[in-house]
Amino acid sequence: MAGQRNKNVSLKEFGSETVSIKFSNGFYNVLFNNFNAVFSIEKDVEMVVNWQDDFKNRIYLGTYFPKTVAETFSFFTYFFASHKPQEFFKENKLTILDLGSNSFPATVGFLFALKNNNFITKFKEIKIYSVDLNEGAFNLGKNVLTKLFPGINFNFVFKRNNLSELVNREVENRKIFDIVLCSKVVNELIRKDVNFAFLKTIRFAEKILKNDGIFYLSDITSPINGNVFLPFIMNQEIADYLREDNKLDIVFPIPCSYWGKNCKAKNCFTQVVVEFNNPKSPRQKQIAKFSPKLFLKKEKGKQIKSLYNDIDNEFVIAYINESGLRKYCSLISK
Ligand SMILES: C[S@@+](CC[C@H](N)C(=O)[O-])C[C@H]1O[C@@H](n2cnc3c(N)ncnc32)[C@H](O)[C@@H]1O
Repeated sequence: MAGQRNKNVSLKEFGSETVSIKFSNGFYNVLFNNFNAVFSIEKDVEMVVNWQDDFKNRIYLGTYFPKTVAETFSFFTYFFASHKPQEFFKENKLTILDLGSNSFPATVGFLFALKNNNFITKFKEIKIYSVDLNEGAFNLGKNVLTKLFPGINFNFVFKRNNLSELVNREVENRKIFDIVLCSKVVNELIRKDVNFAFLKTIRFAEKILKNDGIFYLSDITSPINGNVFLPFIMNQEIADYLREDNKLDIVFPIPCSYWGKNCKAKNCFTQVVVEFNNPKSPRQKQIAKFSPKLFLKKEKGKQIKSLYNDIDNEFVIAYINESGLRKYCSLISK
């Protein structure tokens, strides 16, 4: 019976234990030697929109960029271990949208995972769209990507759009993107008082994703606007989305995918912790905390869900209930 299990030893899902990443010297040589990245220990180097300041963009590159790369790299490494890239990317051109891309760390982590699956050279062209207000970071990022992935034929497009407005707009159904990445930008929209920013971003992504496409949504896990933990807001809006007549299904975290629109959790806190090296940091290990989610179009999601019948592990995520108590949400099969 579920109540009798020791939850601490049965946690099996990605992120249930700290994930460790060791970046190569080559990666950091590119950042610090080729692009003069700067590492800063200042806690609150403000993530201001529209930095046109080259120095701040270089602080981003040396300090936050490796963090996000560690996040998407670890996530997609985990995901591709059970679902091969060829299930999703069938053409010889790959089209990526990176929302709030800055200098493309989310894309870089994803492409490293593709590369480790020997899948990156399959593409004749990788077209990457950035939606951001910071064109300086975009220009830096496209040079970094080109240096990190020599021999890949990239085509970069910068769309200067304010996401606060974009997610509020009626968008036509256009299946353009193989993958939409949205990493740590929605919290900035919420701080700017955009209501239901996660919900609107998911509705936006569903309109532009190809049928086999992937939507990765992730954000910080700290409290914002007073003291509400961001995952509480994110998970609530995802639950609201799943109850709509929608086109996307969540497939990660697995318990969310299993319970879907029947989820009744309130104040659900989800977090993955990744540790990684940064040679410029005085600390031996850097820590990234994030809350990743993965969505697929419903038909595609159904195929993945059918695999749950074969799962013989127990997948558990923690959430905090209304009384502030830690509870566990699990998918238990067999
Ligand atoms: C914290 S950074 C995240 C960058 C990257 N995605 C990552 O995960 O590390 C947020 C990015 O979103 C951009 N951004 C913030 N608000 C925006 C808005 N309203 N419209 C467009 N871009 C925005 C910022 O310029 C910045 O590049």
